Amino acid sequence: QTIYRKDYLPPAYLVETVELGFDLDPARTIVASRLTMTRNPASKQKHIELYGGELELVALRLNGRALTRRDYEINGHLMRIPNAPDEVVLEIETIISPEKNTTLNGLYVSNGNFFTQCEAEGFRNMTWFPDRPDVMARYTVMLRADKQKYPVLLSNGNLVEEGELPDGRHYAKWEDPFKKPSYLFALVAARLVCQEETFRLADGRDVLLQVWVEEGNLDKTDYAMQSLKNSIRWDEERWGLELDLDRFMIVAVGDFNMGAMENKGLNIFNTKFVLANPRVATDIDYAGIEAVVGHEYFHNWTGNRVTCRDWFQLSLKEGLTVFRDQEFSADMIGTDSGRAVTRIDQVRTLRQAQFPEDAGPMSHPVRPDSFVEINNFYTVTVYEKGAEVVRMYQTLLGREGFRKGMDLYFQRHDEQAVTCDDFRAAMADANGRDLAQFERWYSQAGTPVVKAETRYDPVKKSFEITLSQSCPATPGQPKKQPFHIPVAVGLLGAKGNDLPLTVNGKTVGSTTMVLELTKARQTFKFDGVLEEPVPSLLRDFSAPVVLDYAYTDDQLIHLFNHDSDAVNRWEAGQRLAMSRLLRLTKAVSEGGTLVLDETFIEAMRKVLLDESLDAAFREVALLLPSETLIAEQSEVVDPQAIHMARQFMRSAIGRKLQKDLIAQINANQTPGEYSPDAIAAGKRGLKNLCLAYLAAAFLNLDLAERQFDKATNMTDRFSALTSLVHGESSEAERALDTFYKDFEGEALVIDKWFALQASAPRTDVHKVRELMQHKAFNIRNPNRARSLLFSFCNGNPAQFDAPDGSGYAFWTEQVLALDKLNPQVAARLARALDRWRRYMPEQQDRMRSALEQVSASGKLSNDVREVVTKALAN
Ligand code: ARG
Ligand code: ZN
Repeated sequence: QTIYRKDYLPPAYLVETVELGFDLDPARTIVASRLTMTRNPASKQKHIELYGGELELVALRLNGRALTRRDYEINGHLMRIPNAPDEVVLEIETIISPEKNTTLNGLYVSNGNFFTQCEAEGFRNMTWFPDRPDVMARYTVMLRADKQKYPVLLSNGNLVEEGELPDGRHYAKWEDPFKKPSYLFALVAARLVCQEETFRLADGRDVLLQVWVEEGNLDKTDYAMQSLKNSIRWDEERWGLELDLDRFMIVAVGDFNMGAMENKGLNIFNTKFVLANPRVATDIDYAGIEAVVGHEYFHNWTGNRVTCRDWFQLSLKEGLTVFRDQEFSADMIGTDSGRAVTRIDQVRTLRQAQFPEDAGPMSHPVRPDSFVEINNFYTVTVYEKGAEVVRMYQTLLGREGFRKGMDLYFQRHDEQAVTCDDFRAAMADANGRDLAQFERWYSQAGTPVVKAETRYDPVKKSFEITLSQSCPATPGQPKKQPFHIPVAVGLLGAKGNDLPLTVNGKTVGSTTMVLELTKARQTFKFDGVLEEPVPSLLRDFSAPVVLDYAYTDDQLIHLFNHDSDAVNRWEAGQRLAMSRLLRLTKAVSEGGTLVLDETFIEAMRKVLLDESLDAAFREVALLLPSETLIAEQSEVVDPQAIHMARQFMRSAIGRKLQKDLIAQINANQTPGEYSPDAIAAGKRGLKNLCLAYLAAAFLNLDLAERQFDKATNMTDRFSALTSLVHGESSEAERALDTFYKDFEGEALVIDKWFALQASAPRTDVHKVRELMQHKAFNIRNPNRARSLLFSFCNGNPAQFDAPDGSGYAFWTEQVLALDKLNPQVAARLARALDRWRRYMPEQQDRMRSALEQVSASGKLSNDVREVVTKALAN
């Protein structure tokens, strides 16, 4: 049941209009549809093809004639109606049971309300339909439901009619003026309230904006609304893209598989990315809301107006839209230094999650060649690496050139379903550039390694940089061709200044130059270099690659102190930390003594105290590489040793910098009214990291205690609680209880409460099982399952990878339990064992047998089967 990109065929029939009727009832909803279809001249096929999930088919009529079982074939989820005429009106009636739908895919019930999730293939769980993104149609939707229970009836587009029905029911009719694929359909029937306002677009039109939530949450919608208005403005200003509807709605739902969904005019969001006020949300939550509100809004052009031809092209909309939301968040901060910190966060995500994916059994190109279950391919590769690929166009073509490419893309493809090649062609044609080789970023999986060697000639005053590239084999792709890699470089002089760059006798206008590496090995030469420089390579992380260059500690400290490129300044610190963490890990494994050199401590002290740097930058500069990152760099993964090494380093920093950390805690208070802006959030971030370092050394826990009691915002309160728990304070239990009682009614805060405990160093699998018995735990709610199960399996490696295998036995149980309810969520948890081949042999055996146990289970979903099969095969 593997589906291949090369097998793509255009649809046999196109759908002009879709009329949908929903008689909503939790146990028994009747779905009626009327499709007007015409034969697609671009197809040679003669039969109508419809997809359907678990549906009770009540009626099926073609041009007014009822079809019998002899008139069509059903094969699994595919229905074929052979020999249909060129013009067809198809009428279908199905019955479904939304309250039984625990998959949260299609129409389902959450807290008594109806919601839909149709991407990627959820629409077919409501009715038979040519459910593929290249079939775009105009929709009219009639919703009918009990008025008491479901006073609010929403769908895509514009409300054209509403009224009363007998038996206490009412109806609403919605019309979407734009053609769309079925995955962008949505409906909501619910008891909800909204914050709303009219907003004037750049062209003078007034539009209605709404944020819909449950009644008790109306005090948490301001930031989402503000983010929506900022998104609309930004899309107009930066890209000349306007909102094309009279009305734009955001609806929050507590049960949701992913972050949010860009349904046309009716975005449906996980509550996590809507609800915020200072009492319940952290700075990170606020940033997440801004990014996701932006992301879904930006999809209106990159995804909805121009959509994907098939699901292999997913990154066409996702990579591009992530790039757009990244740029939006950076522009909202506005300063160069703030922008740099957002860039560093992106690099951290990529290394933490995407590089391991690219090196593991689920490795796939940004544009995959095949899949079993498309939901398994909503990945960091398609999203975040995809965004890096889009960013590289901008690096190669310049901001203006990239904008020209975007304009041409919309000009050519508005209201079409297209491919990644179409996007690349628009970029190339708008700029008169050949981007043929750039295609390999879409077709080849794996993280390229760029090795740099340099040579300074003191007589000729020249500096040569030789770059060579390679890319490890990945499943199905043993050999790779060279990529087209933009490598941004600068040269630092002895005083830390940027040296002017001269190539072939010409001065480069800037102190950063983008070298284009297209061959396996290339040498680039700079002249007029008067002193031996320290090269700053891959500035701003100009390509998603691993840079291999033999920096000395002295060079790294020079870069860490002076590089004008903030990303490389941060990177130098990370390299200093990583080499020591690897040495310490080895020392723990071999039973040696642990020491941390003064050079490193002093480098950390210096950045901590450098008032010329934003607090936000100092925070990321002081953050150590995660245990996952250290594991990726280790030859053989020893999770307990990694944990001990990193803890040793954290406590050493806490001890040796104690006075300075306390001083910074005092210097970075943010009294007065809470604001989530980057400056204030940066101060809190630095202050709370200082608190965490002290806690790692079991020092000054009274500071955390006081902060916990006095905090007036969730960022400070939760950070203090984390320090108390990690610092093993005698007050930790009391604080956890108080916190629970204070926020018992706030589901998103209780998620934090579970997540903190699940990832605490002392939490073993027995403690997790105990927490599962807590009355607030509910495995059916994805946020709750993630907060406890995922936080333990992905976020607490030293305990999850316990040598007795107890963590893996737990994983097996939970994957199988979840798979019966919600395969999409189960398959995500299944990926916790992706990197099993990197461990010590005994540990590998335990992990393999856990994978085998899941794999041997009789009734697996496609989702989980694909993940465990690939893990065992590769
Ligand atoms: N398109 C959505 C977004 O990027 C993600 C929805 C994916 N949902 C799923 N079940 N695969 O925001
Ligand atoms: Zn998206």
